Amino acid sequence: MTTPKYKRVMLKLSGEALAGKNGYGFDFEVVQRIAQEIKELVEMGVQVGAVVGGGNIWRGRYGAGMDRTTADYMGMLATCINAMALQNILENMGVVTRVQTAIEMREIAEPFIRRKAVRHLEKGRVVIFAAGTGNPYFSTDTAAALRAAEICAEVILLAKNVDGVYDSDPNLNPNAQKFDKLTFQEVLERDLKVMDSTATSLCKDNNIPIIVFGLNTPGNIKRAVCGDMVGTLVSNS
Ligand code: GTP
Repeated sequence: MTTPKYKRVMLKLSGEALAGKNGYGFDFEVVQRIAQEIKELVEMGVQVGAVVGGGNIWRGRYGAGMDRTTADYMGMLATCINAMALQNILENMGVVTRVQTAIEMREIAEPFIRRKAVRHLEKGRVVIFAAGTGNPYFSTDTAAALRAAEICAEVILLAKNVDGVYDSDPNLNPNAQKFDKLTFQEVLERDLKVMDSTATSLCKDNNIPIIVFGLNTPGNIKRAVCGDMVGTLVSNS
């Protein structure tokens, strides 16, 4: 069996990743595959926290003509829908999970309580953190960075539709170069948009490395956790 490099990880899944080719809502084949990869991590003894975005349902920037705060709260609710879907699919595969929300909705899920989250992780339960940070003006990337710091995750696995960090948008520039390694300082100075600057700074200040990789290659989550070179590693050194 492959040996994991990390004991506790934070997996950040973008909402778009859950939509697959549909671009909206869920592609259940894709969600099943992601869930299967999470299951394999749990079976290797890795403690998994997960933050899911909401972009497959709602993006704050869609809210032209609306208050930013309202649009952001709608996005937070979208992450709850995604968390429930992921929870259900994981549990149908026999993976024990808990959803914790940053905005109380007790009929649906537990509220976020750090010590309870850590206890769940220690018991081998996957903890899905929903509703972002509970505050407008913060992205789900920032929620992932914040929760990662709070639960003492050793690394953030930033699963994306692109397979790493490039010097320019690879969808627009065919000569875009992929980085194997970057420092947080470089990401901030070159404005590389790995995460937003709030999330990047939080990881930098708390020394939490990020591995940015493509979700489209099956097995990548496990490879990243086992220390294989996938995508781009962003750290302080
Ligand atoms: P341990 O005490 O470590 O065994 O954790 P546990 O999660 O099994 O215990 P708990 O009694 O807290 O929770 C039992 C079940 O109720 C779990 O599925 C929780 O997710 C769920 N649960 C706990 N608190 C809440 C809540 O405030 N709202 C909702 N909707 N579910 C909750």
